Amino acid sequence: MEKVSKVVLAYSGGLDTSIIIHWLRQNYDCQVVAFAADVGQFELAGRDVHTVSDLKRKAVAAGASKVYVQDLKIEFVRDYVFPTLQANAIYEGKYLLSAALSRPLIAKKLVEIAKREKADAVAHGCTGKGNDQVRFELTFKALNPELKILAPLREWEMVSRQEEIEYAKRYKIPVSTGKEKPYSIDRNLWGVCVECGPLEDPWKEPPEDAYQITTPAEKAPSKPVYLDIYFRQGIPTRIDGKSLSPVELIKKLNRIGGAYGIGRVDLVENRVVGIKSREIYEAPAATILYLAHRELESLILDRDTFHYKELIAPRYAELVYCGLWESQLKKTIDAFVYATQKKVTGTVRVKLYKGNLWVAGRKSPYSLYEKSLATYGAEDKFDRTSAQGFIDLLGLPLEVKALMDKKE
Ligand code: ARG
Repeated sequence: MEKVSKVVLAYSGGLDTSIIIHWLRQNYDCQVVAFAADVGQFELAGRDVHTVSDLKRKAVAAGASKVYVQDLKIEFVRDYVFPTLQANAIYEGKYLLSAALSRPLIAKKLVEIAKREKADAVAHGCTGKGNDQVRFELTFKALNPELKILAPLREWEMVSRQEEIEYAKRYKIPVSTGKEKPYSIDRNLWGVCVECGPLEDPWKEPPEDAYQITTPAEKAPSKPVYLDIYFRQGIPTRIDGKSLSPVELIKKLNRIGGAYGIGRVDLVENRVVGIKSREIYEAPAATILYLAHRELESLILDRDTFHYKELIAPRYAELVYCGLWESQLKKTIDAFVYATQKKVTGTVRVKLYKGNLWVAGRKSPYSLYEKSLATYGAEDKFDRTSAQGFIDLLGLPLEVKALMDKKE
């Protein structure tokens, strides 16, 4: 085993990371500093969620020499969520990247704390077949290649939850008892990810209890609701004329969207490590904001820029999904996307009804929509006589080719 004197661990308060604290001390004979990030997971749905003091107590009881809990919600939204929203990045056409966005931020904080604490290693509680280990470790490598990286779940012998519970009992590590849900759930402000248990059969419809923050469409209100969402330079700042902080705005849309059954996704996805897995997602606010943002861009961006953005959006999503947040390419695309957002200012009206979401209207002082050119009415300014010459030249290569083919 490598020699480690002090390690900073990404701590969640759950069974795995509680045991990890003890296990690291035993196996590496090192100090363990626990770090927990608040990215909005504490307030969602309320069930089974740790409070900050709870978390600190548990980490110390498990053997941590120090515990950090940092509220990262503002930074998460400003530096991770909004740039990805502005890029319209969606993985495999469906996943709005909630868990994938929190990992590079948590990893960055671990590296910062490791420096402050003069620690020589960082650790996480990810499994050896998931995406999150990749995201954490690629970010560690990008930000401080000298840090040692420990991933106990890839190292230790325990393979079942039962063995872990026995370990906790043996060493008197406090872990939440009570009936364990069959799901593995990751949550933050931007969405909820749920996998395992009955979801592992891709043919089986997800049971209702798998969903944490959305009402099924059948049970949503029987009347639609309209929301006016105002963006300033590609960033949502108001709902129905009322200014809200980024975090409050997202929470509000999660609440309303969730009640209307918006933002449920059921996806069989390709993981970085080569396997396919089935996961369900709930992201009411993200779903509403993605639609609204893109609608506004369709009004404001010129055709080429709009199309070029569409072209690189899936690539951006892939970089985020695969843990390459700190890569040169991702940062370069960020610069391009940022430049496109200068005039993405205006309002989009959306309509929510029983799990459906539509755009109802859009307006902007920077709109490139020109009624006098688009209209079929009497005030039409479009010069239809130029259309023929335009088509003649555009069709010239087709015509030449067709004539050649005929000769042959
Ligand atoms: N599949 C998602 C991703 O790779 C979520 C991973 C964590 N999911 C979970 N249920 N624990 O980003």
